Amino acid sequence: MNNDLTDFSSDISGFYKLSLEERQQQLVKLLNLNKEEHDLLRTLGYFSASQIDRLIENVVGSYQLPLGLAFNFKINNKDYIVPMVIEEPSVVAAASKIAKIARKHGGFVADGVKSIMISQIQLTNLKNIDYAKDVLTKYKQKILSLANEQDPILNQLGGGAKDFEVREIDTRKGKMLIIHLLVDVRDAMGANVVNTMAEAVTPYIEDLCDAKIYLRIVSNLATHRVAKAKAVFDKDLLGGEEVVEGILNAYEFAYADPYRATTHNKGIMNGIIALTLATGNDTRAIESGAHAYASLSGSYKPLTKFDLDSDGNLVGEIEIPLAFGIVGGITKTHPMARLALKILKVESAGELAQVAAALGLAQNVGALRALASEGIQKGHMSLHSRNIAKLAGASEEIIEEVAKRMIKDKKIRVDYAKEIIELISKGKNL
Ligand code: MEV
Repeated sequence: MNNDLTDFSSDISGFYKLSLEERQQQLVKLLNLNKEEHDLLRTLGYFSASQIDRLIENVVGSYQLPLGLAFNFKINNKDYIVPMVIEEPSVVAAASKIAKIARKHGGFVADGVKSIMISQIQLTNLKNIDYAKDVLTKYKQKILSLANEQDPILNQLGGGAKDFEVREIDTRKGKMLIIHLLVDVRDAMGANVVNTMAEAVTPYIEDLCDAKIYLRIVSNLATHRVAKAKAVFDKDLLGGEEVVEGILNAYEFAYADPYRATTHNKGIMNGIIALTLATGNDTRAIESGAHAYASLSGSYKPLTKFDLDSDGNLVGEIEIPLAFGIVGGITKTHPMARLALKILKVESAGELAQVAAALGLAQNVGALRALASEGIQKGHMSLHSRNIAKLAGASEEIIEEVAKRMIKDKKIRVDYAKEIIELISKGKNL
C-alpha cells in the first residue's frame, strides 16, 4: 500500500516496456486500487488492447466521453448532422437550436477553405542577410522540388510544396530569417508532411545561405487555411429585438475587452473542439491557432462579428484558421472518429472546416442569445442538477424527481439532494 505520501514515489522507469495488463496490475499495486477500479481500467470499449496501446505511451486504460449529435445544419445548401464529443451540457442542444433558426434565411454560407499549411524554417548565424534573401529567391524552384521529392503521392494528388515566404525578424539573439514553406496538404492536417519537407531542405538551405538552421516545424497559426462562414438569424426566432440588441451589445463588449473576448471565443470553441475531438483531429492545434488568430491585430478580439440586416435580423460571421484532416493521424484508425466522419458525410478537409466554422458561429449565437435573455444557468441547471442528484446517491428511478425538486427550491447542492433522497426513501410526498 503506497497511499502514504512519505512512501510514495513517481520515479518509475520501464513502465512503457510492460504489457498493458502488467501496467494495470502495477498501478493497482502502487495505488492500492480496488477491484472496481481495476475493472474500470480494463474496460477498453471499442478499442482492442493492442490498438489503444499503440496510440500513446504508458497506456493504462481508455477514457470515455459522450458523443452527441447536433442537427439542423444547412451549409451551402447541404444538410449535415454534426457529431460532437464534449462533457458540457447544453452545448449540443444550443448548436441544434441555432442551426434551426439559421435555416429560415437559408442556413450558413461558407467560403472554400484552402489546404495550405506553413512549415517554419529558422535561419540563424547569418553572415549576410541580403545575400541569403537573394539566393533563396534565386533557388526557390530547386528548394521546392527538393521538398516535393519527400511526398510523390501528395504531388500526384495535386498537393505539395507550392511556394515560400521569407520573413526577417528581430530577436534578442539578433536578426533571423524565417522561411515559411507553403505546402498544399490536401485532405491531411499536414503537420507530418510539412515537418518532413522542412527537414529535408535544411542541409541545402544551410549551404546556400551560409546559415545555421535550428527549428523546422509546422506553424499552428494556419493563416492560409482560414474558414469563413456567415448566416442570418431571424430576429423573432431569436426572441425579438431586445435579444438581438443584447447580442450586439455582447459583441461590442467582447470587441472592447479581452477578458470578455476570451469567454466569447471559448463559447465558439465549445462547438469547434467538440467536432475536432469527434473526428479525431488535433484539438490543441485548432485551439492555439484560433487564439493566435484572434490576437493578430495586436489585441485579443472575438472570432465572430455581428451586424443587422435591413429587416433587423442578426447577421453573424466567423473567421478562424482550421487545420483539419480527414486522412492521416487517427482520423481513419480510431473507430469512433471514422464513424463520426461517416455521420458528417464530408468529402474533404476543407468541407470539415466549413462545418466547424458554421458550428462555431451557431455555438456563439446560442451562448449570446442565452446570455442576452434568460441567462446561461437555466439551460445548464437541469443536467447539472441530475448530476448532483446522482452524486448524492439517488438511484436511477428517483434522479429526475430529486433534480426537479432541487431546481424548484433553487438549492442545487449535494447536501440538499441527500435530504430529498432521505424524504423519498421515507415515503414522504414531495
Ligand atoms: C460556456 O461554456 C460558454 C459561455 O461562457 C460562452 C460565452 O460566455 O459567450 C456561455
